[in-house]
Amino acid sequence: MTTSSTLDFDVEALRADFPILAERVHGKPLAYLDNANTSQKPRQVIETIDHYYRAMNSNVHRGNHFLSQQATNALEAARRTVQAFINAREDREIIFVRGTTEAINLVASSFGENLRKGDEIVISAMEHHSNIVPWQMLCARKGAELRVIPINDAGELMMDEYEHLLSDRTKIVAITHISNTLGTVNPIKRIIELAHERGAVVLVDGAQAVPHEAVDVQALDADFYVFSGHKVFAPTGIGVLYGKASLLEAMPPYHGGGAMISSVSFEKTTYNDIPFKFEAGTPHVEGIIGLGAALEYLRGIDLDAVAEYEQELLHYGTEALLGIDGLRIIGTAAHKTSVISFMLSSANGDVHPHDVGTILDNEGIAIRTGHHCTQPLMKRFGVPATCRASFAFYNTKEEIDALVRGLRKVQKIFA
Ligand code: ALA
Repeated sequence: MTTSSTLDFDVEALRADFPILAERVHGKPLAYLDNANTSQKPRQVIETIDHYYRAMNSNVHRGNHFLSQQATNALEAARRTVQAFINAREDREIIFVRGTTEAINLVASSFGENLRKGDEIVISAMEHHSNIVPWQMLCARKGAELRVIPINDAGELMMDEYEHLLSDRTKIVAITHISNTLGTVNPIKRIIELAHERGAVVLVDGAQAVPHEAVDVQALDADFYVFSGHKVFAPTGIGVLYGKASLLEAMPPYHGGGAMISSVSFEKTTYNDIPFKFEAGTPHVEGIIGLGAALEYLRGIDLDAVAEYEQELLHYGTEALLGIDGLRIIGTAAHKTSVISFMLSSANGDVHPHDVGTILDNEGIAIRTGHHCTQPLMKRFGVPATCRASFAFYNTKEEIDALVRGLRKVQKIFA
């Protein structure tokens, strides 16, 4: 067991499940600190996908032969795993999509049909582009207005301003549960309550939350909750749209094609029931089964212990980074997850994040640099880009120490 945690949390045993963590990069041990971007995959997920292709590969919902039944059963079992994982009331409330981006576009396009000229959509200043642009496109289509909740200098939502923005014209509130750039954890339950008081529906972008904390969509009373598989230790190209059945049933289809129909004629087509109404075409079968395996894997870990350990990494990382002269953290909310965005300067001023990332890469350390698909947030903080280290439960304090050594090396190079 690693010495790095004071908790009863066997990090080394968990790390052994993730083959890639044993890789060396540029001759150095890999320190993978880019988990908000995408997470690594445990062998349980890799082996599930391998088994699918070796023993089960077949199309689903379209055949009565043995393999098709096997694949269909595995896919529908994965749907029930997702349902249980986020505590949805029914499995038909789980729609498989390509990722968070597609889920938001689906809701904006389909639920958005209800909007009229003059209606309002509320988002926040810390949204990812995927929770901004689909709503701008909807506003342009419908003549609706976008309203933006501002944030304070710590990167927290200004809840008073939010209350002022809400009105009877507000039809949709689309808000991130956790900021991908700042790590801020938003008071999502309160945000939903306030929106519901004004009769608005709420879409929660849970892409950064599901990897870090247990999410209960019924306890939150979320109308829509969306997330991506690849950030929760599952494959890329698969994601989830949770929606309350009553809303999904009333919404028009998003894509037309096979599987989403009940009957087709040239005169009239009728649509399938949910979830299939929103799942046109052959689905990403191995992605869905891999997602099920990833969530089963997470269910086998104590998620409260995960959250506590990640908080320990956050605090250790924050202290360690603040120990570097000339480093400033962007995003200092009281309630944060294990994401640290920062700017580094040397005697000659700010070092561009791209240079920081390149030098760290030579040390085997993977972080993300850039605008993190949050250009309005960069503008809010007056920076072109940031460096971002983001930790998962398989990271260690030793890796954070390596990051600190790498950053000191950057400062020496730019001195
Ligand atoms: N949304 C991903 C990130 O924050 C891509 O890095």
